[in-house]
Amino acid sequence: MSHDTTETNRHRHDFSGHDNVWLFGYGSLIYKADFPYIERRPARIRGWARRFWQGSHDHRGTPDAPGRVATLVPETGNVCAGMAYRIRPDVFTHLDVREKNGYLRFTTEMTFDDGDHAEGLVYIASDDNAAYLGPASEADIARHIAQAQGPSGSNRDYLLRLADALRELGDDDTHVFAIERHLRTLPGT
Ligand code: SIN
Repeated sequence: MSHDTTETNRHRHDFSGHDNVWLFGYGSLIYKADFPYIERRPARIRGWARRFWQGSHDHRGTPDAPGRVATLVPETGNVCAGMAYRIRPDVFTHLDVREKNGYLRFTTEMTFDDGDHAEGLVYIASDDNAAYLGPASEADIARHIAQAQGPSGSNRDYLLRLADALRELGDDDTHVFAIERHLRTLPGT
């Protein structure tokens, strides 16, 4: 699969007849909403775990020195917390470019804090995409993140802002918080 998923995503969902769609964000989409939305609500999805296993060539790294950013991997029974945004379908024109480095849109069932449910879309970079880096220990991921930077800023900033946003949501993501702990012990961080 090519790195750039913009065109694939453009043809993936038919929004005709929909004037708004829910989007579930679990990584930078939680804390960086650089797009218009009608409303946003904390939400959770089941069966997925957040992992820093995706390479970033365009935001928090470069093609020669990719950063490590969040994707979701299947994990039965696990609950992943994030932020749901109700958006107009034309907002996907911007989002598909933002998430173009290996992420594809998938349909997911979301549960809001008050127990309500809705169907939404979520960007996932699966293990067959060209930028995928895969598992590593949390200490190694922290060392990698400490060195990477790209056009959107340092990889460290991505991780620390996500950790703060998850704390605000009251989430206990052991993977993210372990990377954060390792990162904070490294020189210069
Ligand atoms: C997301 O936040 O939902 C997708 C991954 C990212 O943009 O960090």
